Amino acid sequence: MPITIRRATINDMLAMQNANLTNLPENYTLKYYMYHLLSWPEASFVATTTDVDAANEVIDGVQKDHASESATTTSQSSENVFQDDIHGNECTIKLDAQYVNKGEKVIGYVLAKMNDDPDAADQTLNGHITSLSVMRTYRRMGVAEKLMRQALFALAEVFQAEYVSLHVRQSNQAALHLYRDTLEFEVLEIERGYYLDGEDAYSMKKVLDVVKMLPSKFQKTDVEDDCESDLLQEITERAMSSGKLI
Ligand SMILES: CC(C)(COP(=O)(O)OP(=O)(O)OC[C@H]1O[C@@H](n2cnc3c(N)ncnc32)[C@H](O)[C@@H]1OP(=O)(O)O)[C@@H](O)C(=O)NCCC(=O)NCCS
Repeated sequence: MPITIRRATINDMLAMQNANLTNLPENYTLKYYMYHLLSWPEASFVATTTDVDAANEVIDGVQKDHASESATTTSQSSENVFQDDIHGNECTIKLDAQYVNKGEKVIGYVLAKMNDDPDAADQTLNGHITSLSVMRTYRRMGVAEKLMRQALFALAEVFQAEYVSLHVRQSNQAALHLYRDTLEFEVLEIERGYYLDGEDAYSMKKVLDVVKMLPSKFQKTDVEDDCESDLLQEITERAMSSGKLI
């Protein structure tokens, strides 16, 4: 199924925390996620995909519940589906922290903020990447790069951040490649014993330029957008001529 990158909302907090707990030793309270999402709602993003099987299970759940006119909570053994009709809505969700909607699960996130320390020596507007992770099955597909590019653009465009900073473990080759080589962050310094387990961190920084950061500049597509043609029409025509669309 296709992967969507969209702005993170309060509804995504549990799924983001779940992904963080699964992928990283640096964990945060829900209050800290909420602080990010309420203070800088445009800065954090999630990558989601639709799990068709899960969506169908949910529909089955509604039908079964209807048939049996069951009570508020229906335990469906291994499927972990329950019905919540507190508000009189027919609403079922999977009891799995990855899911934020029927069949929609969070497979990655970037949690970003503006630096808001009133005592900081540098009072230039600048952003910070608090956390980034992608679930193992979905790695090496460009998801982290896309999440980061969206967050960097938002920090620059919405909050006028002049630069963005982050820390990364010295041993984290994947993240280091992403930040230094793909996204062109510069290494400022090594912070000795930065992490709780004593590992050193690279402190990194990237100067932001809104025009250069436009996400559309990094979309890999075989169709050129001249900002005038109807791209959907072109794609539909190609699919029809190749027999993929009837
Ligand atoms: C680091 C992480 C977010 C990368 O996510 P991802 O979606 O696999 O990354 P992408 O597919 O966008 O890859 C971006 C670049 O990094 C490279 N890369 C990704 N994983 C890599 C690895 N294990 N080793 C070397 N390079 C790697 C990709 O090849 C790509 O490089 P390119 O632009 O030259 O092609 C992911 O591995 C992860 O969640 N790790 C655990 C959590 C973590 O370490 N977070 C960062 C904390 S600072």
